[in-house]
Amino acid sequence: MGKRRTLDVDDILARQESGELRRHLRGRDLIGFGVGVIIGTGIFTLAGVEAKTHAGPAVTLSFVIGAIVAGLAAVCYAELASSVPTAGSAYTYAFATLGEPFAWIIGWDLLLEFALGTAVVSRGWSGYLANLLGLPSSWFGEEATVNVGAVLIIAVLTVVAVAGIREAAWATNVLVIVKVSVCVLILVVGVFFVRSANLTPFIPPAQPAPGASGVLHEPVVQAGLGLAQSVYGMAGVLSAAAIVFFAYTGFEALANLGEETRNPQKDLRVGLLGALGVCALLYIGVSFVLTGMVPYTRIDTGAPLASAFESVGMHWIGALISLGAVTGLTSVMLVELVTIGRIGFAMGRDGLLPGALGRTHPRWGTPHLMTIGGAVLIAVLAAFVPITELSDMVSIGALSAMIIVAVAVPVLRKRRPDLHRPFTVPFSPVVPLLAALACFYLTLNLSVLTWIRFAVWLVLGLVIYFAYGRRNSRLAERITASTRRTGRPR
Ligand code: ALA
Repeated sequence: MGKRRTLDVDDILARQESGELRRHLRGRDLIGFGVGVIIGTGIFTLAGVEAKTHAGPAVTLSFVIGAIVAGLAAVCYAELASSVPTAGSAYTYAFATLGEPFAWIIGWDLLLEFALGTAVVSRGWSGYLANLLGLPSSWFGEEATVNVGAVLIIAVLTVVAVAGIREAAWATNVLVIVKVSVCVLILVVGVFFVRSANLTPFIPPAQPAPGASGVLHEPVVQAGLGLAQSVYGMAGVLSAAAIVFFAYTGFEALANLGEETRNPQKDLRVGLLGALGVCALLYIGVSFVLTGMVPYTRIDTGAPLASAFESVGMHWIGALISLGAVTGLTSVMLVELVTIGRIGFAMGRDGLLPGALGRTHPRWGTPHLMTIGGAVLIAVLAAFVPITELSDMVSIGALSAMIIVAVAVPVLRKRRPDLHRPFTVPFSPVVPLLAALACFYLTLNLSVLTWIRFAVWLVLGLVIYFAYGRRNSRLAERITASTRRTGRPR
């Protein structure tokens, strides 16, 4: 292996066999976790915003395109997750293929994605709850000096995440049942109000882009998802696809549960592809119903679905949709907190983060220090900083990890052709390459500011790596010890 620091796949597999995390999860729990983390603000707001501003009724097509790109990335995850099931997902795959510095950067990137995701969502959750229960926005809204709602929900969910993976799975499943029922209700009732006149023309004719004049499109800024680009026409559908891709992000969290899954070879694949499939069907159906109920020019971008039902006199469904959104966001945060714990655990175990983070609680069997430490940082951020516009960072974080995972598939095939692969990406390396290119294309649709922030985060990560991780790496220790013993690098 020379000087390049890569982890041996056999070591990764041996380590997780004797691991500390507890194998409680079945395929259906993984689908629950997946749907739990995928369905969030994406469908409840972005479908309407994008129909009105970029794609018209063809936003349904944007969701189909988003599903295809997410599907390409998910099959790459499925191959690696089922053949190398570990707590670190993309971080560990990068460690086994591209080397330690890449692994660190991708772990650092994933921590950003999930930590910022939780912080942004907790503020959104607080606002929704305030609306639903009539709570004062001076404590629960965006203008609150200390966002009490955000801190409270993070505290409660941290307790659940630390209590045990079984408890977290149970809570997620309950929340998922509520939000999926709300989506199904939207479909079943809404379909009776679909008017073909609202769906024609399906792709409205292209118009000059307001983004071209350098003016940010207001609703898009509210959603925090980049610059407006093409308006209507097929180009508008593609712009919308890049933005609604956010609605699919999160499925990659499942790949971190490999050490807690009873039969990871089969269940991880079932969870990843099953959760994505369920969400894609719901998204495509809900966006079709929404644009069929309301002319796209008249969609309310604040609460598109609730307003659509109110406009046809079904006010009670509007209230249920808010409930669906609150429960939806709750499960997103819970799964994200669980995920942060596992990624930090994997990095601590390798010595790239302090070793204490790489241990589990003797009774609960969860990486409690990482989960609690991460949650405290997130709560401080969410309490004081109006970070809503940073949700773009979640997308760029997820897409970067997906690119690395897609690249890792053919690299690992070449390096370890003998590895048992319970699931294989068809037509490798064409499909992984397509996945990487599609994800890269989507990152190009994010704003320049997002790219700059992301670059700053990565540079900060590299500084920490060279100051701490590189010196404390367990792998480096092993290589040095073996060199001393044999006179040759491992
Ligand atoms: N996919 C998640 C959402 O739509 C992040 O909120």
